[in-house]
Amino acid sequence: MPEGDAHAAVDPAVIGRAVRILRAGGLVAIPTETVYGLAADATNPAAVRHLYAVKGRPLGHPVIVHIASGEALPHWAAHIPDDARRLADAFWPGPLTLILTRTPAVADEVTGGRGTVGLRVPDHPLTLALLRAFDRGLAAPSANRFGRVSPTTAEDVRADLGTDVDLVLDGGPCGIGVESTIVDCSETGVPVILRPGGVSTERIEATLGHPVRRVADGPSRAPGMLAAHYAPYAEVVVIDDIDAACGEAATRIARGQRTGLLTPAAVAAVPGVTPMLAGTTPEAYAAVLYERLREADRLNLDVLIVVPPPAEGVGVAVRDRLARAATGSARG
Ligand code: TXA
Ligand code: MG
Repeated sequence: MPEGDAHAAVDPAVIGRAVRILRAGGLVAIPTETVYGLAADATNPAAVRHLYAVKGRPLGHPVIVHIASGEALPHWAAHIPDDARRLADAFWPGPLTLILTRTPAVADEVTGGRGTVGLRVPDHPLTLALLRAFDRGLAAPSANRFGRVSPTTAEDVRADLGTDVDLVLDGGPCGIGVESTIVDCSETGVPVILRPGGVSTERIEATLGHPVRRVADGPSRAPGMLAAHYAPYAEVVVIDDIDAACGEAATRIARGQRTGLLTPAAVAAVPGVTPMLAGTTPEAYAAVLYERLREADRLNLDVLIVVPPPAEGVGVAVRDRLARAATGSARG
């Protein structure tokens, strides 16, 4: 099989088992190019309520519906503006979620009772095969308990959700590593970026040929994007300047704190500090970000000093998640 063949790694027996579980109202963890999702049949309100219960997510937070291709859009979206169609054509399958006016077919459990629905075609061969076989939408938030770091490997999902998930489809580590970009195209006027993610604002604007807006997110626009999300147990401190970051790490060690230092490239050792590497490009940084945050917890660190990537491309999304992690540190 040629490398990259969409069916090379897909076992029809596993897909068949996943479909049976979903049709029966069960939960299946699915790999995507961004993070792992916890999927339920989007057309089964009881299954979606069960999904919320397992995640520990408050009802009223809408979930993204994953679909097999843009051809399914008219079933879910009542109105598809030209900009939305252009973005779907350019970036699906891929790390882009479109918020569109919903059709009456969409269950309230999925939308949190809103007039809009979030839709995305994920770019992973296993999950695309599942979506084609299932032939319905999959409601899928990230496969972590509410407020915790999103999982980027099948092991992360099992560690977080244990036996509450009926099946974990192991599709290897997620290539992008941060969640999709959410673009609201449900209102007249220019589209609004509600969450920076795998597709950069630059690429979105280049595709549309005009600028978009970026809102400071908030419960009114993208419920669920609370400041306390994305946090490890360790306190997270974000410092752009490498020397200042090393200095802060030394100060924390002097205070007796177990301290990690996450940097894009290796720096001279700071005595007592646990060095962690992220990657020199924004893409490489994003791919390992959540794994490093989880590692900080596994190492039982008190504090993680982080030098972020530049605010370019997916670096904007990485900085956004780090700012949330810094605000929401459970022990910080
Ligand atoms: O990359 C991703 O988007 C991953 C993978 C699994 O696809 N999913 C993900 O889902 O990050 P979740 O539930 O962790 O985050 C979805 C975000 C939430 O902040 C939610 O409020 C927002 O999408 N959202 C979903 N539907 C919406 C709607 N109708 N209006 C506004 N925001 C919406
Ligand atoms: Mg999430």
